[in-house]
Amino acid sequence: MAAPAKFLGANSCASSSCHGGGGANQNQFLVWSLKDFHSQRPVAMLETARARQIADAAGIADPMTDERCTTCHEPLRDVPKSRRGPAFNPVEGVSCESCHSPAGNWVRSHTRTDYTRADRTAAGMRDLENLYVRANTCVACHQVVSPALLRAGHPELMFELDGQCVAEPKHWSAAKNGNGTQAWFVGQAVALREMSWELSRQSPPDQNEIARWRALAWLMRRAAAADPPLPAPPKSDQAANADIYNLMQAWADRVARTAAARTWTPALSHAELAALAAASADFRGPAPQPLQARRAGRLVLALDRLLPQEKKFAPGDACDKDLNRLFALAQSVPDFDPAQFARALDEFRKGINRMTR
Ligand code: HEC
Ligand code: HEC
Ligand code: HEC
Repeated sequence: MAAPAKFLGANSCASSSCHGGGGANQNQFLVWSLKDFHSQRPVAMLETARARQIADAAGIADPMTDERCTTCHEPLRDVPKSRRGPAFNPVEGVSCESCHSPAGNWVRSHTRTDYTRADRTAAGMRDLENLYVRANTCVACHQVVSPALLRAGHPELMFELDGQCVAEPKHWSAAKNGNGTQAWFVGQAVALREMSWELSRQSPPDQNEIARWRALAWLMRRAAAADPPLPAPPKSDQAANADIYNLMQAWADRVARTAAARTWTPALSHAELAALAAASADFRGPAPQPLQARRAGRLVLALDRLLPQEKKFAPGDACDKDLNRLFALAQSVPDFDPAQFARALDEFRKGINRMTR
């Protein structure tokens, strides 16, 4: 086996004939270093008063050096000396190699014109065009924060692959972004897997995290049911025992892999939107109000990603207005009125039917 790859540093990628040029196919370094949230902010964030506060409350002496913070905000810091190349810079934030993998073993070969995507992947470069691989890369820093850090005031994280990829200042061509609904689906399944895994390790599991997990599990059951070839989910997401978390973790992973591997079609995207828009009966059911409110919160975010994927959709049209109303109704957990939300969801659904007729 080859030695573990070395991290070479963003400057190794930045020569003007490679990724440091001004042209659209060579400007990756410029886009990242000047515009991407990942190049400056994650490390700078650890120097703020807010970071101090969180660290103090969590009993952490120095957020700039403690692995509990650097693992996401300053990931290169944790790379051992033996794996640092000459241009390595530990404080360059979330860098090229944090996402594309350390370049030591592939930097020379990855430009060979006879090299295929499969060759590059075999050399150790991460295949980020594959939505499952991409979701796994991003989710590592974008979903699970330990209960201790949450109690210390760290913001809750919510991973959503499609929206977060769209929000990234793009250093790649639009074609490589993949289908929005597929990215959404794969990302949410991977988020569910991570939340299930985290809960399976907590004893007792955190009540707030359970509530967030239930809402997402509900959403993914619905979404997966719209696509029959996907494996069937575990029987119940109600029981709060470790078993259900393990089962859900395994299911969510299988669903994510399956969905990432298939050829996605507009019909499938529409089936997803239609299935989620048809969920009003669940808000008329016996589930407790706080759970209903969290389901609604997850649902509106999903509809917001899926609706613009419809060919006939235009911003500001009737469906868009219906969706704004759903957002308003889902805004506050304590004031959430399930029956009212159910009626508004029925309106939204009718609007979609009219639009696509
Ligand atoms: C699992 C990855 C992860 C870990 C571990 C982590 N953070 Fe964060 N942190 C994030 C992400 C992602 C954001 C951006 C959240 C957003 O914009 O929604 C963030 C945001 C922040 C913010 C901005 C908060 C705000 O209110 O806007 C601060 C400050 C911060 N983190 C400090 C810390 C400190 C201090 C630690 C260690 C005690 C830490 N983080 C550990 C991922 C992490
Ligand atoms: C936050 C994660 C992340 C970081 C940081 C990052 N990339 Fe990327 N990069 C991606 C994703 C996602 C894609 C799109 C999928 C693909 O083409 O593999 C991509 C695509 C690319 C592409 C292919 C562009 C195309 O359209 O064919 C190149 C080249 C690239 N990145 C270089 C870099 C370089 C150089 C850096 C650092 C200066 C960097 N990336 C930093 C995630 C990242
Ligand atoms: C090594 C950890 C790490 C990885 C991997 C990572 N991120 Fe981030 N990301 C962060 C941190 C930390 C922040 C917070 C920076 C800030 O806003 O201060 C952030 C911020 C962001 C933001 C802006 C804030 C927000 O939440 O809207 C977006 C969008 C984003 N990341 C998308 C992605 C995507 C897409 C991927 C995968 C291709 C990815 N990230 C991979 C750590 C990471």
